[in-house]
Amino acid sequence: MTTTTTPSAAGSGNAATDKFTGERFTADTSPERLSAIATEALADLGALIQKHAITYPEYRVLKQWLIDVGEGGEWPLLLDVFVEHEIEDVNSRNFQGTKGSIEGPYYVPGAPELPAQCTLPMRDEDRVHTALVLRGQVTDLDGAGLGGAVIELWHADSDGFYSQFAPHLPEWNLRGTIVTDTEGHFDITTIAPAPYQIPTDGPTGQFIAAAGWHPWRPAHLHLRVTAPGKQPIITQLYFAGGDWIDDDVAGATKPELLLDPRLDDTGRKVVTYNFALDPAVD
Ligand code: BEZ
Ligand code: FE
Repeated sequence: MTTTTTPSAAGSGNAATDKFTGERFTADTSPERLSAIATEALADLGALIQKHAITYPEYRVLKQWLIDVGEGGEWPLLLDVFVEHEIEDVNSRNFQGTKGSIEGPYYVPGAPELPAQCTLPMRDEDRVHTALVLRGQVTDLDGAGLGGAVIELWHADSDGFYSQFAPHLPEWNLRGTIVTDTEGHFDITTIAPAPYQIPTDGPTGQFIAAAGWHPWRPAHLHLRVTAPGKQPIITQLYFAGGDWIDDDVAGATKPELLLDPRLDDTGRKVVTYNFALDPAVD
């Protein structure tokens, strides 16, 4: 049986803001760097305003909309949809290992620890969907297995809901912290995710609709892979040939991150994917 609850931007947006603001972040940006970036950003914005001859009604709508984004708790959602893929790209350009992708707003640390061969926590109604087995090895750049590497895996259920951002779901549904075996191997059973629509009922969704865009992300798994002395990877795995692969609203797909699972004789989708971690950057 599938749930009829509708995902809400107000619900998931606010939850993302609450989780994000639980921590205070810092960056060692010098006044000179801040000034240079801000000066250029304002100059670029000015050029855009001149080029499109932005009107006062448009300016007032923009101000109102920005207020709505904040009041609706949707800054994490909006930024992760439209901006994070550029940040991820620039910050991973010197790495040789497995490609990264955006984290998005729905990561939660501390999911239950599971052994290398495991099944993610799920409800009976999740179990009716096609099982997906993701197996492989975590290695360094030379292919040496990294025993005890940690894979945090999280994904939406078949209705597009993430646990802890949708009140009807158990706390850790479809989330786990998997510890690889002594050679870095893992064999994780979950359910095949479905394409995901970012919440459309708040200001982010209103903006997307007003621009005539669509709110879809292709089906994906989120992963964070870590090992001592290695650069952590935050990434996503997608499914070759799936809907929205070439038209992700968040612009976060990469050809290196496509899975092509095969059906085994028990009807499960099975796929191997290996993760290679760069050495840690000091
Ligand atoms: C995601 O679940 O992958 C996601 C959701 C909203 C914004 C960006 C990413
Ligand atoms: Fe996602």
